[in-house]
Amino acid sequence: KDARRKLIAGNWKMNGLAASAPEFVRVVGAYQGGLKADVDLMVFPPFTLLTSFATASRGAGVLVGGQDCHAKPAGAHTGDVSAEMIADAGGQAVIVGHSERRTDHGETDADVRAKAEAARRAGLVAVICVGETKDEREAGEARAVVSRQLAGSLPDDAAAAHVVVAYEPVWAIGTGLTPTAAEIAEMHGFIRSELAGRFGAEAADAIRILYGGSVKPDNAKEILATANVDGALVGGASLKADDFLAIAKAAG
Ligand code: G3P
Repeated sequence: KDARRKLIAGNWKMNGLAASAPEFVRVVGAYQGGLKADVDLMVFPPFTLLTSFATASRGAGVLVGGQDCHAKPAGAHTGDVSAEMIADAGGQAVIVGHSERRTDHGETDADVRAKAEAARRAGLVAVICVGETKDEREAGEARAVVSRQLAGSLPDDAAAAHVVVAYEPVWAIGTGLTPTAAEIAEMHGFIRSELAGRFGAEAADAIRILYGGSVKPDNAKEILATANVDGALVGGASLKADDFLAIAKAAG
């Protein structure tokens, strides 16, 4: 049984200037033009573009969001942006615990969980990222790492309405390497069973689990057809409307 509607999410990372807005506008147009019937879309631009993207997508159904948030609603935290601010800017979602945040900013599972709770407080969907490094996979620790990250990063009230899990093996991000479909199926099945153990089978069955890491138009169909893959979190290929739309169509 698979009642989960597919979700294709684009993480622009630290890319995109005002001049890139037409790429997003093309995505919005294609979504309204028919894609909307088959798939959910989210785009996570840099904060500098969030308001303009929210305006461009208003009423069209493409959700936009931030790539990170602070756990607190406001305060003396120079350079940080709160979940409430993302909502205020027109965002509906936020990525938390991306491996680049975990690595570049030393974010722990507890930090990620606090951010996911902040997202809930602000009425945002949290896309919570987990995934093992190459060394961890080679040491046979991939499941243990992902299990630990899920246990530490997901709030106790995680549910499909406000939580999406993204499995992003760190070694597959931006490398052109991907796990085999069998490896993805194995890990996504494992994640589903971990969710069931903590939240119950029914809640676990409704939570979407995205795959992220070198998803491209030419591998999207196979990845998105894999068991327990409910969509994709796309980095590089989300920057070009043609590529992102090709991936979205592969989900339909
Ligand atoms: O969050 C998405 C990302 O980490 C995957 O990046 O460029 O490998 O699609 P990319």
